[in-house]
Amino acid sequence: MAESKKLTIGVLSSGGDAPGMNAAIRAVVRTALFKGHRVYGIYHGFEGLLADRMEEMDERSVSNIIGHGGTILYTARSKEFTTEEGQKKAAEICKKRGLDGLVVIGGDGSFRGAQKLSALGIPCIGIPATIDNDIGSTEYTIGFDTALNTAVESIDKLRDTSQSHDRCSVVEVMGRHAGHLALYAGLATGAIATLIPEREFNLDRDVVDRMKATMTTGKHHFIVVVAEGVGNSKDMCYYIEQRTGVETRLTVLGHVQRGGNATAMERVYASGMGYRAVELLESGKGNRVVGVRENHIYDIDIEEALTMKKDINRLYYQVAKEISI
Ligand code: F6P
Repeated sequence: MAESKKLTIGVLSSGGDAPGMNAAIRAVVRTALFKGHRVYGIYHGFEGLLADRMEEMDERSVSNIIGHGGTILYTARSKEFTTEEGQKKAAEICKKRGLDGLVVIGGDGSFRGAQKLSALGIPCIGIPATIDNDIGSTEYTIGFDTALNTAVESIDKLRDTSQSHDRCSVVEVMGRHAGHLALYAGLATGAIATLIPEREFNLDRDVVDRMKATMTTGKHHFIVVVAEGVGNSKDMCYYIEQRTGVETRLTVLGHVQRGGNATAMERVYASGMGYRAVELLESGKGNRVVGVRENHIYDIDIEEALTMKKDINRLYYQVAKEISI
């Protein structure tokens, strides 16, 4: 039987970091080595690729990182790589280095980069990683579960102090233009209202009146979760206090949501996605992304993946509205 071709594979992380990226890097490196390939870790995403900043990895290069937040390969958002010239230069560096394929771990911006490089003859596989969970082709992105748990833990703490003071806590949660993280965090913490960019809202109807109605049932502390994509959380805070008479404080959770040890869920999905990415390169495929559909790891053409839109979970939105009173 003919021996299958031994490949040289590059791996990089790109865009905003997300807990679980390290587990994905580990899976790519270990899978490649297990199958007899060589693997290079590229530092600082596409920016580092353009500077030819890479190093061959061995089994020990990824020891003890499966749970660690951040990314051992570092990450960056590269301006130069968005230009045609930059993309050609990156493809040349891959060829010069003898890379047969590249695994790109990141969000949809990183997938667009992978698509460009694939078109220039470097087969690329994307692995979805962003705390925003805003990639249409997958039900789940690496980083979401850990960020959600961090947000929930913080909001639980805010609830303690809000309760002691009969206050309202307005909590701004990350997500860029998407409200997935906010919706899940709001539902998981029993927020009286969760405001997300995907759904219109009215502050009087959806927050002030709800708080007033709830006060008549004997509740005097409140959590209001606001997705950062909604904006104006400071003004909202002031408005809520003026209209309800309840002392109101704003907490912007910020980048704390991007760090921390990856949850078990992240590690499992990241391991499966990293494995599948190497398998795809092995079978001669490029220009694809892996993802989760109906709880299974699958892969899809990048072009198609990038056209897919993701709505928020309608049932969870409804449940949050109806039972958080
Ligand atoms: O995409 C991940 C994310 O954390 C968003 O939720 C947030 O809007 C953005 O990145 C923050 O970007 P930066 O790290 O560049 O401040």
